[in-house]
Amino acid sequence: MRRGLCPGTFDPMTSGHLDIIERAAPLLDELVVGVAFSPDKGGGPLFTVDERVELITEATSHLSNVSVRPFDNLLVDFAHEVGATVIIKGLRAVTDFEREFQMAQLNYRLDSRVETMFIMAIPEYMYLSSSAVKEIALHGGSVQGLVPAHVIEALTDKLKESR
Ligand code: PNS
Repeated sequence: MRRGLCPGTFDPMTSGHLDIIERAAPLLDELVVGVAFSPDKGGGPLFTVDERVELITEATSHLSNVSVRPFDNLLVDFAHEVGATVIIKGLRAVTDFEREFQMAQLNYRLDSRVETMFIMAIPEYMYLSSSAVKEIALHGGSVQGLVPAHVIEALTDKLKESR
């Protein structure tokens, strides 16, 4: 049984995240999407962790070997908790590389039994990020195609709420 863990903040999930999950799932017996609380990231997430879990669960409902769980501990500890031996990350343009390289090295140092593997983003999503999506939506721009349709709805509601 090969179980992988795809971690992130997913605030909110983008089409790029979904693409990585859809490409990783067939390579594994099971894939757990780990949603980090990340309370300190970028002034605090827009969506609660439960909302982010719900949005990803809906987006991945067609993938029978994918489950979604929140976590608030060290990634390698959470990998053990769920029985995952490989961490799957998406890698976008060069700007991601240094941070991802650092995290992979540190995670390896913390626990060398957990391997990190990267899936390259397709060109269409190379420059897509959750923060760009939030910024576009906040200023009234269209995020059509950048996030799944139900995430657009959730974003619209959330931004109304926070006004
Ligand atoms: O989507 P993000 O914000 O780039 O994901 C980063 C995440 C959640 C994968 C990373 O911050 C993480 O692994 N957090 C858990 C705490 C941890 O293990 N930190 C040490 C890793 S170097």
